[in-house]
Amino acid sequence: MLSFIVLLLIATVLVVGSDERHEDKALEVFQAANPPRKTFDDVVCRQTIVQHVFENSYGAPFAGTYTPPHYCDFTTVVLNLSATSQGRQHDRLALLYFNDVEIWRTSTPTPTQSGIHWSYVKDITIFRSLLDREQKVIFDLPNAIDGNLYTGAFNVTIEALYFNDEYQSGFTPAEEIFAISNLTSAQNTPSVFNLPGDSGVANLTLPRNIKNAVVSIMASGNGAEEFWFANVPSEYTDTFSTSPLGPLSGHSPFREVQLLIDGQLAGISWPFPIIFTTGIDPGAWRPIVGLNAYDLPSFEVDVTPWLSLLCDGQAHSFQLQVVGYDSLTQDNIGTVGDNWWVSASLFVWLDHAVNETEAGPINKVHSGPTFDFEAFIGTEISSNGSVSNTSFSFSLAAERSLSITSTRATTNGTRVVSWHQHLSYISIQNLTNSALNQTTSAVTSGSHYSDVSDVVSRYVYPLTLYSSYDVSPEGPVIHPGSVLCMVDRSAIDDGVNLLQFYSGVEVGTKSLVGRQNITSKYYWNDTIVEGTGSNNKCNGETWFTYSGAPAFAAGVKEYSRYLRESDDAIVADQQAWTTIVVPNTIPIWDVEG
Ligand SMILES: *[C@@H]1O[C@H](CO)[C@@H](O)[C@H](O)[C@H]1NC(C)=O
Ligand SMILES: *[C@@H]1O[C@H](CO)[C@@H](O)[C@H](O)[C@H]1NC(C)=O
Ligand SMILES: *[C@@H]1O[C@H](CO)[C@@H](O)[C@H](O)[C@H]1NC(C)=O
Ligand SMILES: *[C@@H]1O[C@H](CO)[C@@H](O)[C@H](O)[C@H]1NC(C)=O
Ligand SMILES: *[C@@H]1O[C@H](CO)[C@@H](O)[C@H](O)[C@H]1NC(C)=O
Ligand SMILES: *[C@@H]1O[C@H](CO)[C@@H](O)[C@H](O)[C@H]1NC(C)=O
Ligand SMILES: *[C@@H]1O[C@H](CO)[C@@H](O)[C@H](O)[C@H]1NC(C)=O
Ligand SMILES: *[C@@H]1O[C@H](CO)[C@@H](O)[C@H](O)[C@H]1NC(C)=O
Ligand SMILES: *[C@@H]1O[C@H](CO)[C@@H](O)[C@H](O)[C@H]1NC(C)=O
Ligand SMILES: *[C@@H]1O[C@H](CO)[C@@H](O)[C@H](O)[C@H]1NC(C)=O
Ligand SMILES: *[C@@H]1O[C@H](CO)[C@@H](O)[C@H](O)[C@H]1NC(C)=O
Ligand SMILES: *[C@@H]1O[C@H](CO)[C@@H](O)[C@H](O)[C@H]1NC(C)=O
Repeated sequence: MLSFIVLLLIATVLVVGSDERHEDKALEVFQAANPPRKTFDDVVCRQTIVQHVFENSYGAPFAGTYTPPHYCDFTTVVLNLSATSQGRQHDRLALLYFNDVEIWRTSTPTPTQSGIHWSYVKDITIFRSLLDREQKVIFDLPNAIDGNLYTGAFNVTIEALYFNDEYQSGFTPAEEIFAISNLTSAQNTPSVFNLPGDSGVANLTLPRNIKNAVVSIMASGNGAEEFWFANVPSEYTDTFSTSPLGPLSGHSPFREVQLLIDGQLAGISWPFPIIFTTGIDPGAWRPIVGLNAYDLPSFEVDVTPWLSLLCDGQAHSFQLQVVGYDSLTQDNIGTVGDNWWVSASLFVWLDHAVNETEAGPINKVHSGPTFDFEAFIGTEISSNGSVSNTSFSFSLAAERSLSITSTRATTNGTRVVSWHQHLSYISIQNLTNSALNQTTSAVTSGSHYSDVSDVVSRYVYPLTLYSSYDVSPEGPVIHPGSVLCMVDRSAIDDGVNLLQFYSGVEVGTKSLVGRQNITSKYYWNDTIVEGTGSNNKCNGETWFTYSGAPAFAAGVKEYSRYLRESDDAIVADQQAWTTIVVPNTIPIWDVEG
């Protein structure tokens, strides 16, 4: 039901005022994140790879040519995306591809009448082997300007910065990177799969002397799946038949992204619940956007235990799938709504001492997924005897493990290679007031282990979300309304990043904790969609802390930032090259007393 705000923003008709263009300094809108390096002063060369204004850009991505910098020795590569926008606009998803390989998935903040600016700097050194080749650059940012209401174009520049860092234990980026995508860059379109409609399959014939192989998966729910984490099981979508919001969104609040090799499960991701910048309450995400909004997270699966299959010289299928919980199927796994944008890349390191890798049989042990679902519907009997539903609460818990083990010969003898994952999930929801009020309290946690190091990596994503809409009985579209939103959530990641570790970019574990605790009240009417009216109120706090083990001198070992915002302004901002203690997200609220 939360997605209706999106419909509102699409369907509202605007009475335009005068075109106010202020010369005021644009509002800086940012994401709390660690910079990829302590200084950028040691840049050895730089070039602009994307410069484009996105107006009506559905089906019209920027397509250019990447030319490697000449006469410039470099190891590290960093991209700086900076952009401006002015007017009214939705958040938009954007994808950067080099040929068929996805490099970066980002989303935009929402502009104001007086204009915003943002920038984000991302290290892409793990893609180093691609960066010596001339190839296509595709940046897709589907935007729409409709004359009166949606006026904001996005003017985007992406600059590549090159550094010649020395890496203490050797610089060993993947030698080859294979796209697990729709392979459409020749048509100047991004190669992303659109699931569940597309098959999501790429057939790859790989080198026969692979030493290590890792698949990096990028997946985000958009369109009808934008708020998947607040959805209900499909058989409950008509619980509030008289709701002005219409039917609830189905397929449950559980999502699993799967990687299959020749139809066999090789790894899974239970994704982080991204909230984009018009999500739930557009007023809550400016000037600080939601966690990961500018840099959507990928998930890595070590597929080294599959080498006896992958190195046999034959083609193998790599398939990406997204599924949800479904109480009506035998295994409780069902399809999802439209749509998930998904793609992946296979990073490969070779053993130059052999022509063909010697690897043992593949042992697969799975348990689950097991689900535990309980639901309760509160009803009311009116004086004439008719029954109506007043509340719907449910809990959905899930658990799953998988373990893939094999052996591989090395110059020093045979060693065990394995990939283990354990995941658990719980979501408790309560919908009342014809679904206009909703509480979601969820925790997704996972641990994984590969033989690249002896560290078990862990993540925990707690989300506590309350939203209460006040809309006209005729529905939210065009009619004035408001939303009260309270969100408290964290992203806690602790462990080894497989790609950076195998590449020699990092030599140990890293730890990231981000938390946002925000209360916002947002009003709209026929003329105000950008949420800067004086009755819009937002108060929030953001904590971010990072510690890592970079293998180069300019790398960041510790960083932190604490921010407090009030409406569209920052009222406290403390940054330091040290860590801070981040208080925990409160797992559940009793908002309604
Ligand atoms: C990124 O670009 C913006 C220009 O919009 C600039 O202000 C910022 O300093 C750049 N960052 C780096 C690291 O070059
Ligand atoms: C877009 O931004 C670039 C770089 O800042 C600037 O040179 C250009 O004039 C801008 N284009 C428009 C149409 O504003
Ligand atoms: C690639 O995209 C097209 C168009 O969306 C789709 O029909 C096709 O199934 C996709 N291919 C794969 C392998 O998923
Ligand atoms: C992958 O190979 C299978 C089996 O040969 C074939 O049916 C399928 O069309 C191929 N898919 C793609 C995307 O190439
Ligand atoms: C109450 O909810 C149940 C479960 O979703 C649904 O089958 C039923 O039709 C609802 N009753 C009314 C009166 O809407
Ligand atoms: C690899 O193959 C080449 C060509 O067949 C052969 O000359 C060479 O001896 C082989 N190397 C090893 C390590 O087996
Ligand atoms: C019974 O009362 C409810 C609530 O007052 C009303 O919505 C419904 O139309 C009534 N049904 C009949 C059959 O009168
Ligand atoms: C093999 O063993 C030697 C001596 O212990 C070590 O230096 C080398 O790194 C090892 N090689 C591999 C591939 O593990
Ligand atoms: C859901 O909310 C209603 C209304 O506030 C309350 O009566 C009910 O106890 C809540 N259910 C749960 C499981 O918290
Ligand atoms: C819905 O939320 C509003 C605002 O928090 C609250 O005042 C109201 O009591 C809630 N209604 C129900 C039925 O939960
Ligand atoms: C989180 O926000 C709520 C509501 O504004 C507030 O009561 C609570 O104190 C905040 N928690 C922290 C740790 O700041
Ligand atoms: C919408 O709200 C704004 C800000 O409160 C107000 O200035 C404007 O007149 C309102 N428009 C309508 C049509 O009520």
